[in-house]
Amino acid sequence: MNKVMVEVPGGAYPVLIGENLLGSVESLLPPDARRVVVVTQESVPYALDFAPRPSKVLLVPPTEAAKKLEVVQDLLEEVAAFGLSRSDAIVALGGGVVSDLAGFVASIYFRGIRYVNVATTLLSQVDAAIGGKTGVNLSTGKNLVGTFWQPSAVVCDVETLSSLADRELSSGFGEMAKYEFLGSGKLDMSDMVGSVTRCVQIKARYVAGDEREGAERAMLNYGHTMGHAIEALGISGAIGYLYHGEAVALGLVFAAHLALVLGRIDVEEVERHYEVVDRFALSSVLPSGVTADAVMAYLARDKKARGSITFVLADRLGSLEVVSGISGSEIQRAIESMRSWPRK
Ligand code: GLY
Repeated sequence: MNKVMVEVPGGAYPVLIGENLLGSVESLLPPDARRVVVVTQESVPYALDFAPRPSKVLLVPPTEAAKKLEVVQDLLEEVAAFGLSRSDAIVALGGGVVSDLAGFVASIYFRGIRYVNVATTLLSQVDAAIGGKTGVNLSTGKNLVGTFWQPSAVVCDVETLSSLADRELSSGFGEMAKYEFLGSGKLDMSDMVGSVTRCVQIKARYVAGDEREGAERAMLNYGHTMGHAIEALGISGAIGYLYHGEAVALGLVFAAHLALVLGRIDVEEVERHYEVVDRFALSSVLPSGVTADAVMAYLARDKKARGSITFVLADRLGSLEVVSGISGSEIQRAIESMRSWPRK
């Protein structure tokens, strides 16, 4: 088992990565927690034992559509009815939807109680469960309401990944691929404990350096500006549905083309993006419904919030930075570059 500490201003917490770890979750609860609520989903095929502490399992709906205030209200009512006190704890057992909801509830119930994330998806193990971002969506966009509320501990049992559907696992690989541009070195899918640990170490470093996402933590969003736009197009039905990590993989390749169009990187670096995405067996073919107009329409909200359209982009030294003021015509040129790229 590997342990990575996330050093945040409110106190450090451990992320445990290994096999057969579900039995140790109980020992990670705060010792003074007398009652436990587990938030999970019907599709998560695991149960946790907290005896002799009384515990209650609350199920949330299966998809991203569960991330809404009505579900938070229901969870809060149930948590209160179960009599969870200020010193008790919530355990999130599942992927990012579960940890976003359970963490949000933990952050506002009694103005904040403790919670432990038990991440059972790859996406969650390398990203969502770590770093304390919690929240829900509004009809106008994803994650528009939320808090920064760090868990007391995170458990990443890689054995739970065997229960994932193929595309769900691939989606995690999309998020994992991102870390190869953040300094992880080549990640080896046959060594999941080692590879998840490398990703967690990098995530922990960015979170420790910039818990509230001033600037540095934004690098974790590499591939995500276009990734989120593509994901939204999938949800709207304009293109076929894509999982988050599948959209991020396309977003990584797109970011390389945008950097190329802006003269920030050369063709070898673009090829490296393809090599990484190919190695994780993810598609780098932009669906035809991804047009500059559709992307600009999605990014209009970002533009309003930040004053201009912003991407995380690579430069020739291999480092990433936030670049603002990206125009529709630059996005158009990058899309054209990606569509006409000669694949070897
Ligand atoms: N998912 C990016 C972050 O946690 O900052």
